[in-house]
Amino acid sequence: MKILEINGGKKLSGTIRISGAKNASVALIPAAILADSEVTICNVPEITDTDALVEILEYLGADVKRASESILINPKTIENKEIIESLSTKLRASYYFMAALLGKYKNVEMYFPGGCSIGARPIDQTLKSFKALGAVVEEKDNHYKIYAEELIGAHIYLDMPSVGATINAMLASVKAKGETIIENAAKEPEVVNVAIFLNGMGAKITGAGTSEIKIQGVKNLKGCYTEVIPDRIEAGTYMIAGALVGENLKIDNIIPEHVEMLILKLKEMGVKMEIGPDYVIVSKSENLKPVKIKTQGYPGFATDLQQPITTLLTQCQGISILEETIYENRFKNVPYLNSMGANIKIDNQTIQITGKTNLVGKQVEATDLRAGACLVLAGLLAEGKTTITSIEHVLRGYENIVEKLTDVGAEIIIREEI
Ligand code: EPU
Repeated sequence: MKILEINGGKKLSGTIRISGAKNASVALIPAAILADSEVTICNVPEITDTDALVEILEYLGADVKRASESILINPKTIENKEIIESLSTKLRASYYFMAALLGKYKNVEMYFPGGCSIGARPIDQTLKSFKALGAVVEEKDNHYKIYAEELIGAHIYLDMPSVGATINAMLASVKAKGETIIENAAKEPEVVNVAIFLNGMGAKITGAGTSEIKIQGVKNLKGCYTEVIPDRIEAGTYMIAGALVGENLKIDNIIPEHVEMLILKLKEMGVKMEIGPDYVIVSKSENLKPVKIKTQGYPGFATDLQQPITTLLTQCQGISILEETIYENRFKNVPYLNSMGANIKIDNQTIQITGKTNLVGKQVEATDLRAGACLVLAGLLAEGKTTITSIEHVLRGYENIVEKLTDVGAEIIIREEI
């Protein structure tokens, strides 16, 4: 077990370069197996979630080479065998293999995926899409056997614009016979990243980034090169760090449009920012105003930034209201923030944050990835030493977090728990 220690209150200045997006990479890596020859994915972050997917690829027999920020995947040698439970449950994104293997081999066997414990997270919409394409889904004790004689294009309506279900429906239908239409599709930039990748292989996908995606099935997909978009959640997390303790902290290599809703909320609070074509410079600002935030699918306020921004809301003068609409259990960070001095009340899916309160370092636990990010931010601001346990959750999604923060002036170390 690893723990993170932060000696808070240090000013952060300099540049943090944002890595490739976790939630795009974790779909692109499984998508690679749909190609008939080698693919290269550039700008893949070195985080434990991407490592876990490479492990599954290698388990299936793919030839995988990692060259600094790129991954080269040759799927020719893949053997379509059951993905064992210990691999499926390592992360949520293992379920992209469900769709990619079904799309390519018309047959897949694996277990229910893992992922952060932030709500129920069913996969009914993914399974509904597979069934609409003509697949049979046999489910027993979290084990899935899904197969089809032939996948045939279908009209799929998602009950909610789920990122996972949208990408899975695309992966399963790119090689199906005829046209597939996905209605109420997720509009997240990660969905667009995957569609561009598949089109590079020869797929015929239009409309990604809108709520209606159309896919004309093709027979073969060839190897290609693609690049992962910058991680908008990592960018947002460090922008919030800038608003808490920054002195001209530059968050570089970003697509500002992807964090537009965060920028608007920071402006509303009164945070000082300079926005460039591919960077944002953020500084700590005084007399921050309270705001109301409601999480929504893209382009709304991202649920993955809800926990990180809670730390900043403790520094606003007055009452802020934050409503979580995507996950039913994403406030596990709140008791820990309160133990550090915050004044936050939970009422079902809404929290009320009364500020401004000083935060002091304590021992806290990263119960999930973004709860961990929230507590790292609190630790950067707090007076004294903050110790964060279960930091493995954070390492699933933030590349070189200790190095990146140390380089801009934070006092932060990671060590094995004794
Ligand atoms: N949902 C269903 N049925 C489904 C699919 C989703 O009911 O078949 C519900 C979920 O229970 C949840 C909501 O719909 O309440 C959103 O789920 P979605 O499928 O959009 O989320 P996901 O694909 O499981 C991805 C990211 C999450 C991110 C969400 C929303 C990956 C691997 N995960 O999850 O990332 O919060 O989209 O943007 O891409 C994170 O990075 O910390 C993280 C949790």
